[in-house]
Amino acid sequence: MSAEHTLQGGAAGTVLSAQGLVMRFGGITATNNVTLNLQRGARHALIGPNGAGKTTLINLLTGVLQPTEGRIMLEGQDITTLAPHQRVNRGMVRTFQINQLFDSLTPLQTLSLTVSQHLGLGTKWWQPLGRSREVTERCARLLAQFHLTEVMNQPTRVLAYGKRRLLEIAIALACEPRVLLLDEPVAGVPAGEREELLQTVAALPAHVSVLLIEHDMDLVFSFANFMTVLVNGTLLTEGPPEQIANDPQVKAVYLGHGEGGEGNAHEAPGAGGTSNG
Ligand SMILES: Nc1ncnc2c1ncn2[C@@H]1O[C@H](COP(=O)(O)OP(=O)(O)O)[C@@H](O)[C@H]1O
Ligand SMILES: [Mg+2]
Repeated sequence: MSAEHTLQGGAAGTVLSAQGLVMRFGGITATNNVTLNLQRGARHALIGPNGAGKTTLINLLTGVLQPTEGRIMLEGQDITTLAPHQRVNRGMVRTFQINQLFDSLTPLQTLSLTVSQHLGLGTKWWQPLGRSREVTERCARLLAQFHLTEVMNQPTRVLAYGKRRLLEIAIALACEPRVLLLDEPVAGVPAGEREELLQTVAALPAHVSVLLIEHDMDLVFSFANFMTVLVNGTLLTEGPPEQIANDPQVKAVYLGHGEGGEGNAHEAPGAGGTSNG
């Protein structure tokens, strides 16, 4: 990739840039000099075997962890030392694991809260919902987009797992992100509920730049237009999906790590037969 980006990370350029990131935990180097550029509007997948450092990298990007070395630029601005909420305010959002509070609320309530807060209307959730027309309309759109309309009045704790994952992405999108980080959105989702989730991920707004961490190679290859492969904290290679699928090094890594375990597809990229072009 050409290094000659515009300095501002201009209209067609890099929206998020991790430069020379290093993360050490005691003697373990979880992230070893990783440079990754997310292009505007990208569908960028981050793959690699268990322990490769994918989650650590997301934690560095979102500010959960401070890197030992390196820097992170968002829209041309250095955000390396910003707190997680400051990064969210600047448009970089990861999917939220639904917490205890949200568990007792309905999807409609949760999204109303999130949208209200995002629009600067505060979190007066005890007020009757539907006070603000804009909030109501945005929630209705999000509920429809994420196939949550028919369960919108059920407490989140009773929802099927796939619906909960959909709600997590809907909450993130309610913050109107410019950059969306998805950490294994289909992990643990039963086969019967996957299709809805895959379709929804595929239909995310084109202007949102997405970085997806995923084990499921069907999803990765149907989704991504660019891929980065991490192994042992180090960037092994990156490029368009066709290139990655045919990369002997990548195949070797995946075939060498055939741990079964969680029932997810851990097969070699391209071996799933769904990399349709
Ligand atoms: N908080 C931590 N303390 C110590 N080691 C950690 C911590 N977080 C991750 N690691 C180590 O860093 C490496 C990468 O882990 P992780 O980022 O979770 O990988 P992945 O998400 O690709 O499976 C692993 O060796 C893991 O044990
Ligand atoms: Mg992980």
